[in-house]
Amino acid sequence: MNALSLVRKCIEPELERFSQVFDESLSTSSSYLSQILSSVKHKGKLMRPILLLLVAKDSGEPTDASFLSAVTLEMIHSASLIHDDVVDDSDERRGKASVNATYGNQVAVLAGDYLLSNALIKACETCSIPIVTRIADLGRQLAKGEIVQMKNASVNALSEEGYFNAIQLKTAALFSTCAELGALSVGASQERMAWAKSLGEHIGICFQIRDDIFDYYNDNVGKPTGNDLREGKITLPLVNALNRFPDAYMLSLAEKARSLTITEKEIAELVAFAKDKGGIDYARKVMYDRAETARQMLAEVRHEPIREALNQYIDFVVERTS
Ligand code: IPE
Ligand code: IPE
Ligand code: MG
Ligand code: MG
Repeated sequence: MNALSLVRKCIEPELERFSQVFDESLSTSSSYLSQILSSVKHKGKLMRPILLLLVAKDSGEPTDASFLSAVTLEMIHSASLIHDDVVDDSDERRGKASVNATYGNQVAVLAGDYLLSNALIKACETCSIPIVTRIADLGRQLAKGEIVQMKNASVNALSEEGYFNAIQLKTAALFSTCAELGALSVGASQERMAWAKSLGEHIGICFQIRDDIFDYYNDNVGKPTGNDLREGKITLPLVNALNRFPDAYMLSLAEKARSLTITEKEIAELVAFAKDKGGIDYARKVMYDRAETARQMLAEVRHEPIREALNQYIDFVVERTS
């Protein structure tokens, strides 16, 4: 059993109820749409609802609003992946062909929009303006993050500040909203909500750094690797290596990556450079430091089994292989 299945055990009935609400809210009378959405029903790891439900369970008794929030946020996540694969021109997701690869970009954009609207319906069912407000704000941050990243791909690609700004928006904001809504949906105090939000943020940053490290290896992670540089995205390992060793040739290759004219052989050279110059080690260290900060925050967790589950959740985020 991996660390995540032990975590899931701690909230088994809650996850079952989550899945029921999630699947029900995706049912549609159009068989074509249903077929397209089947890739969403083939769920991912459910990192975000798991975090939300763990925080909710530790802060009180999960309510209808907790489950509706978890469904909303997982649906926004799924929609953002469908859109992200269009933006990144990526043909594999969750070990299967991506929606854009199977149905084309037009269908993928519309299917993502459909999911986002579905997510909003679930958010409205909470009848909570504070929840809906946070979700609307999150949607804005996710889209801004993807746009900032594109801008980085052409202008500000080599600064760590630009990198962290983009991943804060495109990934960490979702994890922090999950944790915050876990607390909010059970009526926790402002102080507790702020704690949860900050915990989710540290975890989300770790999650994206781990994801970006994947891209430097030919691992079978259910999505293509090597895609970031092909798409002009220069992530932390290479940003760091280039900043510490501003080799003119490697900088020229980074420039080619940014202008989308880089060859496969040159991508391999940049990857080797990032590895040889300690860029991966650096990214790992930043990730472990953040994970440590998150772990220290677990002193505030009230129930021992949930503290243990959150510890294992963090283990999984930094050690995961998928
Ligand atoms: C992928 O998220 C997108 C990133 C933030 C890197 P996950 O790896 O959680 O995707 P699924 O839902 O498990 O497929
Ligand atoms: C994270 O970006 C995905 C979103 C926040 C939508 P990536 O482009 O790095 O994610 P993957 O690698 O495609 O899952
Ligand atoms: Mg992508
Ligand atoms: Mg990636």
